[in-house]
Amino acid sequence: MKILVVGSGGREHALAWRLAQDPEKHALFCAPGNAGTAAVATNVPLKADDIAGLVAWAKTERPDLVVVGPEAPLVLGLVDALEKEGVVCFGPVAAGARMEGSKRFAKEVMDAAGVPTGKAETFTDAARAKAALPAFGLPVVIKADGLAAGKGVVVAETREQAEAAIDDMLVANKFGAAGAEVLIEEFLHGEECSILALVDGENAVLLPSSQDHKRVFDGDKGPNTGGMGAYSPAPVVTSDKLPLIRDKIILPVVRELKRRGITYRGVLYAGLMVNDANAVPHGPTATSGSDVNVVEFNARFGDPETEAVLPRLGGSFATALLHAATGCLRDEDVVVKDDCAATVILASGGYPGAYENNRIIEFSKSRMEDVESLVFHCGTKAEGGRIVTAGGRVLSVTGLGATLRAAVDNAYARIAGISFDGMFYRKDIAHRAFARG
Ligand code: AMP
Ligand code: GLY
Repeated sequence: MKILVVGSGGREHALAWRLAQDPEKHALFCAPGNAGTAAVATNVPLKADDIAGLVAWAKTERPDLVVVGPEAPLVLGLVDALEKEGVVCFGPVAAGARMEGSKRFAKEVMDAAGVPTGKAETFTDAARAKAALPAFGLPVVIKADGLAAGKGVVVAETREQAEAAIDDMLVANKFGAAGAEVLIEEFLHGEECSILALVDGENAVLLPSSQDHKRVFDGDKGPNTGGMGAYSPAPVVTSDKLPLIRDKIILPVVRELKRRGITYRGVLYAGLMVNDANAVPHGPTATSGSDVNVVEFNARFGDPETEAVLPRLGGSFATALLHAATGCLRDEDVVVKDDCAATVILASGGYPGAYENNRIIEFSKSRMEDVESLVFHCGTKAEGGRIVTAGGRVLSVTGLGATLRAAVDNAYARIAGISFDGMFYRKDIAHRAFARG
């Protein structure tokens, strides 16, 4: 197959790499890609949000499939524009991407579909929002409705913090249009995990569970990031939960969207809070009465979850994506290997704040070949025969092994052979899984 992957991060490198492992040989392209994708695909110098440029490329090159990585082009309608030209796409149309682009819309869909989630109310007026706070107790969660680069969610421990967050969004317009509406949401107790489901408009097949590490420092300290590491499977998602997640969360959403005239094809990523006796930590039950609740939906593969989940898949990944994109997905399309995987992000000093680019990355050959591991590029570029840093998250190092412990050890062993000025990473990936004993 001729396949274009859209995007330039670790997720897209993992997508292109996994497609290159298929039993069939594909002609792979990545737009714009990075120094890592260049090793498995032909990079096309078009930005992920250059809708007109990507459509023009597809009209001439006629790929069999376009796989969209990031949310921005989905929300901007890349899939709508490509489908108009008869190009098959893995990724939802803009109306479907609103599941990620508008938290209010996602809540409406969940409520209509009876999906367990925190109770929430939407406000455009700060005084009314503040007056509603007491009914939610503490802590309470304040969310900007729209896309705010992962910064639009405040978990407030006190009423003052909650009021300040409401003022930031509704009065000071800190997030512009994305914060013109806010949701006040019930705080959900428990342990978070990610479920990525392949969806074909009607049916869904779950990929293996994973958990990411959003805070920048060990022990889940410091500001939120795009994700500092991930591992799969996540033991908090016991096997009894998977049918429930599919039948009570993913499928009802897909069918409610269909009812609204939106055929959702691509990944539906459910960020879930699990609060049963197995969860670390474990707390009071949510209003919904369910021990699994939706925290958020994303309309795409997670990053770095993808770098941990995809190496665990066997079979033909292109076939699975094509079947989802054309409405004929089957359970057999997803083949899961027994291996565990752990991904550690190597970041630029200062991230998620300001950081420097163009640091030369040193890869020591001797340490690279003997450990069961993969290195995905997130923010890199080739320059003068060297690979240099070009982003806050620079590399995703995935270790594989028969146990999670072996996978984590392999990831860190591989990291010992990589360095760049200012490089830092979390040393405690998968700590919740290990805390469970
Ligand atoms: P979101 O962008 O909605 O995923 O929120 C970002 C992060 O805020 C989540 O990953 C959670 O850690 C936290 N969060 C969001 N909503 C809630 C909630 N209702 N209860 C507890 N934590 C939450
Ligand atoms: N790792 C979180 C996300 O992709 O949104």
